[in-house]
Amino acid sequence: MEILILADPQAAERLAARIVADRIRAKPDLVLGCATGSTMEGIYAELAHLPMAGTVDFADVKAFNLDEYVGLEPDDPRSYHHYMHEHLFARVNLDPSHCHLPKGAAPDLEQEARAYEALIKVSGGIDVQLLGLGKTGHIGFNEPLSSLMSRTREKALAPTTRQQNAPQFGGDPEAVPPRALTMGVGTILEAHEILMGVTGDHKAEILAKATEGPITSMVSATALQLHPHCVVIVDEAAAQHLVGRDHYVWQFANEPEWQRYR
Ligand code: GLP
Repeated sequence: MEILILADPQAAERLAARIVADRIRAKPDLVLGCATGSTMEGIYAELAHLPMAGTVDFADVKAFNLDEYVGLEPDDPRSYHHYMHEHLFARVNLDPSHCHLPKGAAPDLEQEARAYEALIKVSGGIDVQLLGLGKTGHIGFNEPLSSLMSRTREKALAPTTRQQNAPQFGGDPEAVPPRALTMGVGTILEAHEILMGVTGDHKAEILAKATEGPITSMVSATALQLHPHCVVIVDEAAAQHLVGRDHYVWQFANEPEWQRYR
């Protein structure tokens, strides 16, 4: 794992977008794992600017999202289908037939989960997986005690998560669907490369647990420590509790791999 510390959220989001754009240029039919949440909004906004400059072409890219609320139809404005359409799919030249999310309103969720895993597999697996970090330490909707080997499945949301996501549901945590269909931790760990974006004071404590704490299913993001190619892009506010902060700053300033992004 590497942690790249940028001055502010905008710089962190821009860096994440530039890395994704470079991966697409290197592999035009890239399979991109997409996440949702406010951190991702900035990354998608940056990405959406790049094609207008003619520098990145999404025509052959395939997108697979992490999760969707159970019971929400794709055209529901509170669904992640809607979120993705608004923040990314409609803003770049992604082919609609290449845009995939698990169907939270499917009549048989177990079957839907199996079909989603199979579709990822026949598409060649995920090349680059974008992740945000939930307050519970979740990635996707893998709430505390999610098996670190879990696959796509239905999962109950923690009260903290329903509180965190309440703004999209009129501010009422009770209005947030209690369950979601989410890629498992094991599914996520199979991505070739993982980019996690984390910004803000409110994420500082959970970021330190996720990256420097012991690996535990109580914080599913700690499983990323096992991944051979995981880059965590953060701002100074989120980095404030990191014990190894100075070393991470040095690495970003000195490693040749990051030279073009400094
Ligand atoms: C939701 C998503 C997660 C994401 C989290 C972070 O809960 N299911 O995949 O990591 O939001 O949200 P934010 O970036 O708004 O803090």
